Amino acid sequence: MSEQPGLAEVQESGARDGLLRFPEGFAWGAATASYQIEGAVAEDGRGPSIWDTFSHTPGAVVDGHTGDVADDHYHRYRQDVGMLAELGASHYRFSIAWPRLQPEGRGRLNPAGVDFYSRLVDALLEQGIEPWVTLYHWDLPQALEDAGGWPQRDTAPRFADYAAAVHERLSDRIRHWTTLNEPWCSALLGYAAGVHAPGRTEPAAALRAVHHLLLGHGLALQALRAQDASSTLGITLNLFPVDAAGDSAADADAARRIDGLANRLFLDPVLRGRYPADVVEDTRGVSDWAHLHDGDEATIGTPLDVLGVNYYFRHVVRAGSATTAAGPSPWVGTSGVEFVSRGLERTEMGWEVDPKGIYDVLLRVHRDYGPLPLYVTENGAAFADAPGPDGAVSDPARVRFLDGHFRAAHRAIAEGVDLRGYFVWSLLDNFEWALGYTKRFGLYYVDYQTQRRIPKDSARWFAGVTRRNGLPEDGQNGVTAPARPGS
Ligand code: FCB
Repeated sequence: MSEQPGLAEVQESGARDGLLRFPEGFAWGAATASYQIEGAVAEDGRGPSIWDTFSHTPGAVVDGHTGDVADDHYHRYRQDVGMLAELGASHYRFSIAWPRLQPEGRGRLNPAGVDFYSRLVDALLEQGIEPWVTLYHWDLPQALEDAGGWPQRDTAPRFADYAAAVHERLSDRIRHWTTLNEPWCSALLGYAAGVHAPGRTEPAAALRAVHHLLLGHGLALQALRAQDASSTLGITLNLFPVDAAGDSAADADAARRIDGLANRLFLDPVLRGRYPADVVEDTRGVSDWAHLHDGDEATIGTPLDVLGVNYYFRHVVRAGSATTAAGPSPWVGTSGVEFVSRGLERTEMGWEVDPKGIYDVLLRVHRDYGPLPLYVTENGAAFADAPGPDGAVSDPARVRFLDGHFRAAHRAIAEGVDLRGYFVWSLLDNFEWALGYTKRFGLYYVDYQTQRRIPKDSARWFAGVTRRNGLPEDGQNGVTAPARPGS
C-alpha cells in the first residue's frame, strides 16, 4: 500500500482553474454485473444459476421478469464497450458469471465461457479501458445451491477453486480482481429475508452463509496471491452510515446493532481478522456460531490491496417495538429496531438521497480501518427515465445526484482519504434483481423491445467529468443543460 497520490494537487486545484480536480490517475468508470446484463442464459454451455431459478419462480420478481435476455450484452458487448469509450471511462467493473465458466460449480472451465470474457477484455484493452473484475456478483451455480448453497462450508473452497482457475486464465490481461460483491446481500437478502435468490428465510443459515462467503473470499485471496503477486486484490462491501434518530441510550444501541450487522460484521473480519464480539453476542439467539472454526478468521483477514465501497443511502434508526415491516427480515438478531425516514428526496428505489453519506462512509473506513486504498465500486440512482418526443433522455435528477456524491467524495479525498476511483452504477439500464426491469439505473437508457441504447443526459455530463477529471467549482458543470449532439 503506497502513499496516497495527488493530495496536494487536489487541495490546490480550485485556486488554479476553478475546477474541483480529482487526483491524477483517478479511475473513473461504470459498473455492471453478469446476470443483470448478459442474457444468453442457456448459450455456449452456461449452466443455471440461483438467479435463473429464482426469477422463474412465480411471484419472486416483479412482473415475472427474468434475466433470460436482459441487455443481450453477451451478443452486444462490443457496442457496450464503445459506450464506455464514449464516457471516457478509464476502468470498467463487470462480473464473471460463475455458471458460464463452471456450469456445475466445479471442475474444468467451460472454454466458450472463458472465450467470451477473453474477447470482452480484449475489446476493453483495445479502447484503453482497464478491466476490473468481480468474481461473484450473486449468480451461484444452481448445482451448488442444490448441495446446500452458501450455508454449506464446502461452497467456500468451491469458490476459491473457481476464482483461481479464472485468474489463471485471465490474469495476463486483468490486473484488478474483486472476490465478492456485497456479501451482506448474498447472505441476508438471499437466505434470511428471502427477497433475493435463493429465496430462503432461514436466519441461522444466513449467518452461516455470511461466514462461508467470507471464508471463500479469504481462500480466494490466498490462491490468487500465490498465483500472481502483482494482481490487485480486494472485496466490495455495501456500507451504510448508521445514525441514531434520538439521543436516548436505546436509540444508540439500535444504531450499534444495525451498524454491527450491516457494516462491522464484514469490515472487522476482512480488515482485522476478527468478528465483532457484540454482533456475535446479538445473534446468539439465532446461531451458536459453531460454523466458525479455528483459523477461519485469520483466513478471512488475509491482507487485501484495496477495498471496494458501494454506497447508496444512510440508515437512521430508533428503538421500537418491531423490526421494520412484518415478514422475514434481513436484520437477524436485531429485533426492536425501527428505520426512520427523514423526508428527504427519494430515488425510484425509495432510497433517500444523501450525498454526505458517501463522505461519512469513506471517512469512517479510513479512520477505523485504514488508511487503505479505497474505490467507490458502485454509486448511482434509479429514476423514471423515458425518451422525450425528440428521442433524447433527460435525467437532471441523476446528474444532480452524481454531482452531489462526487463532490462529497472529493471532500473526503481532500481530508486525507485514499480514494482512488469511482464507478457509477450503472453503465446501462438493466435487470434490477427482484424489481426486474422496472428500475432504471443506467447512464444509457435501454429500450428492451429493440435493445437500442440511448445516452441519457447524465452520460454526456459524466463524459465531461472524466475528460476534465473534475467538476467546476461553481457547482454547475452543465447540470441544467448538458449539450446534446446536434443541439
Ligand atoms: C447493489 C448491487 C447492484 C445493483 C445496485 C442498485 O446492491 O450490487 O447489482 O443492483 O445495488
